[in-house]
Parts: sequence; structure tokens; C-alpha cells
Amino acid sequence: MKAHSRYETARKFLIFWCLFIGVGAVAGAAGMLAAPDGSALGMQTMLPYFQVLPFAEVLFQNFVFPGIALLAVNGIPNLVAAGLLLGHKKAGVTLGGLFGVTLMLWIVIQFIIFPLNVLSTLYFVFGLAQAATGYAAGVFCRQESFAVRREDYPRIGTRPGTLVVFFSRMGYTRRLAFETADALGADIWEIKATQRTQGTPGFWWCGRYGMHRWPMPIEEPRIDWAAYDRVVICSPIWVLALSAPVRSFCRAAAGKIKAADYVLVHFQRGRYENAVREMDTLLGIEHGSVRSVCCHVGRFCEAAAPGRSAGKAGALPHGQ
Ligand SMILES: Cc1cc2nc3c(=O)[nH]c(=O)nc-3n(C[C@H](O)[C@H](O)[C@H](O)COP(=O)(O)O)c2cc1C
Repeated sequence: MKAHSRYETARKFLIFWCLFIGVGAVAGAAGMLAAPDGSALGMQTMLPYFQVLPFAEVLFQNFVFPGIALLAVNGIPNLVAAGLLLGHKKAGVTLGGLFGVTLMLWIVIQFIIFPLNVLSTLYFVFGLAQAATGYAAGVFCRQESFAVRREDYPRIGTRPGTLVVFFSRMGYTRRLAFETADALGADIWEIKATQRTQGTPGFWWCGRYGMHRWPMPIEEPRIDWAAYDRVVICSPIWVLALSAPVRSFCRAAAGKIKAADYVLVHFQRGRYENAVREMDTLLGIEHGSVRSVCCHVGRFCEAAAPGRSAGKAGALPHGQ
């Protein structure tokens, strides 16, 4: 089954906004240019408001210049952005969002020169919605471009004795786990939750488990424990603690792991020593090294490693 793409949903909404604003602006501009006195759009009485603007005596004696400006600022650019988005070009995401900001600025001028009115306010909200949709599409695009392909990590499984285990909802921990396994030549095992973790409902469901510090049911880890001297456990942080599926994994692996290193992945900067302590307690061992990694909209940055593992920095490979 094809995974739901939040980027695709946001892209479709952004196409809607670009077409809605673009087509509306072209129609408005056509009306102004066809009848420069504003009669086609019933705007004859509005010309006096424009007289406070600079160069009004040249530019705002009829609706020719406002028509051209509307076409150039909101009409053509939005249609170009819609075309780029329909053609699956990433530039369309940036431009589509940016033209939402342009629309808001345009409306700010209207707020200054016209009395407060419903239409201007509504279009300001539309601009805000367009800009927010563009931002969301950009973030989702970055997040989804994080997908890893097994063939890009050819050294995985080439040096026996080490296993990298991970759970990942959004792909950040997966990426780090694959990089780590590749650098160590280790085998890799994905912890799979049997509860819903994907999409927005999955986020809230995970949050529930995170808040209660519950273990989340997982598929049984079919691992030949005797084959590994060292296991690297990679976990996202949920609600300031260990993620629920990794909690279940640690319970299942208690007494079976000889030596363990940890990779923690999280959004905020933080040490998350509690997650390290919890894994140690559940596994019944004392950890080796710990890597703590911040991830913001698809960018990794190294956070200070928690606890005594700081002295062992370098024991775990640091990827890009
Ligand atoms: C339910 C839930 C709770 C989260 N709580 C935190 C948190 O308390 N602190 C934090 O820095 N990140 C938190 N995050 C963000 C994840 O740790 C972060 O996005 C991580 O990179 C996700 O890794 P993944 O893409 O491999 O699932 C939370 C994520 C989820 C789903």
C-alpha cells in the first residue's frame, strides 16, 4: 500500500490557493483594463481612495495601472507557481508560499487606503492560509525526502557481531540507524509497532503512549542474540522520554544484550538522560556510548551527549 504523503496533500491545497488567487487576479485585472473607469467591476466610486498613494496624479486617475499591477503582482506569479506545482517542481512550493506573503502585503496597502471591509480582510486571511500551506508543503517535502534506500548503504551486514536496532515514525531515526549500520558494517533490525503510528492520528496515539510512559506493542523481535556482541539502539524521544516501541523492545531484549550503545533522536535540544537510564534499567546493563541528535525539519545537529557517555564520544560513528 502506498504511504500517505502529507507533502502531496499540502501541494494540492497550495495549487488550489495559487489558482484561486491567480485566476481571480487575472479576471479582476481584465475587468479593470477592459473598462479603465472601473465600471465593469462596479469600482467607479473607489478611485478617490487611491489618491493618497505616491504618484497618484499619474498612476491612479483610472484603473489601468492598478489592473497591470494586479496582473503582475498576484495574477501571473500565482499562475506560474500553480504551473510549477502541477509539474511537480519544488520551486513551486517556495513561490506558492511566497506569493501568499505578497498577497498579504498587497492587502496591507488596501487596509491603509480603504475603510475596513470584509473583502480585504477575507483576502488577507487567504494570503495567510496560502503562505502557511506553502510553509507546510516545504517542511513535509523535506521530511519525506528523508526516505532511505537500502542500496545506498552497501556496507550494512558486512562485519558480523554488531546489530543496529531502530524505531522510526517519520524517517529521521531510520536515516541515522542506516548511516550508523553502514559505518559499522553492522546488521540492522527495524522495530515495528503493531499500533497505529503513522499520520496525524498516529502522532496523537503515540503521544498518548508517550505521556503515560506505556510500552507500545511491537512485532516480536526475531533476533539471534548470540550472534551479536554489541547492539546499537536508536530511538526517537517521545514526550521527553524514550519512545514507546523502543521501551517494549528493551523489555523483550532484557538479559539478552551483552553491550549496548544508544542513539537518541529528538526535535528539541536536550540531554534526555532519563531515556538513557530507562534503557539501562530495562536491559539490565550499563550503556557504552550515547549519541544525542537534534533534528529540525530534516536537518541533523549533534546535541551534547548525556551522562558519562560524553567521555566516550567517538565510539559511535557520526554521519552527515
Ligand atoms: C508523540 C511524540 C512526542 C514527541 N515528543 C518530543 C519531545 O518531547 N522532545 C523532542 O525533542 N521531540 C519530541 N518528538 C519529536 C521526535 O522525537 C522527533 O521528531 C524525531 O526526530 C522523530 O524521529 P522519527 O522520524 O525517526 O520518528 C516527539 C514526537 C512524537 C511522535
